[in-house]
Amino acid sequence: MTMFEGKTAIITGAARGIGQAIAFDLAAKGADIVIGDLKAEWLSETEEALKQLGASVTCKELDVTSAEACQSVFNDVAKENGRIDILVNNAGITRDGILMRMSEEDWDAVLTVNLKGTFNCTKAATRTMMKQRSGSVINIASIIGLMGNAGQANYAASKGGVIAFTKSVAKELASRNVRANAIAPGFISSKMTDALSEEVQQQMLAAIPLGVFGSPQNVADAVAFLASDQSAYITGQVLSVNGGMYM
Ligand code: NAI
Repeated sequence: MTMFEGKTAIITGAARGIGQAIAFDLAAKGADIVIGDLKAEWLSETEEALKQLGASVTCKELDVTSAEACQSVFNDVAKENGRIDILVNNAGITRDGILMRMSEEDWDAVLTVNLKGTFNCTKAATRTMMKQRSGSVINIASIIGLMGNAGQANYAASKGGVIAFTKSVAKELASRNVRANAIAPGFISSKMTDALSEEVQQQMLAAIPLGVFGSPQNVADAVAFLASDQSAYITGQVLSVNGGMYM
């Protein structure tokens, strides 16, 4: 029997990047996968690859900023799959800029997707998880939410908020055996990091004790742990996946 056989996992922002890697990993470990992203057609590549893995996969067009949309999608999943075991709040955006020049729109956009989106999806999944008397909510925060970063006041506030939200929800849901934890990734390789000059990459690597950028798979490994019974006694925690960059 595979690790997550019979379990349903929902991953937001799964069309690419870290969310896609999480979906592949949970599928490989036997979970029934529900992937959401802003546009359904963006999900077709992930869906195809998940089917190749032999996974059961459902795609949902889902804008996490809409409470109504989240409730409706999660209600449908609860009906179609009969349960929701794992929720990975991964959808996230950046709109960087120094405070003096940061527009109200850029502040609101980042807080709305990263923090309110996490609230919307967690709230929408909670009833089903509480009724089941089991569930694991995993919120993808960031190293920036722990240490701050010049030029990312909105992003840092949103991810710090996600961490505080996670701890509060963990306290509220613990009596029903529903756990909530956050993961704080450091520098994870992506198309964005690949595009940086060799010199900038070397400067960044110098700040990472393990001397390499993380991979989406490193984050997916932490998600699988927090989703599994191997972390049954862990809730309200922040797991840093950052090569030692911030301790
Ligand atoms: P990405 O930009 O490659 O993927 C994010 C996904 O979220 C995209 O598919 C996008 O369409 C989706 N999305 C955006 N707004 C949405 C909305 N309103 N509703 C639903 N989906 C939406 O980003 P990446 O790098 O894969 O990051 C994933 C998560 O990891 C984010 O929360 C990010 O803040 C976090 N993170 C990333 C790090 C990195 O180095 N890449 C480091 C630390 C945290």
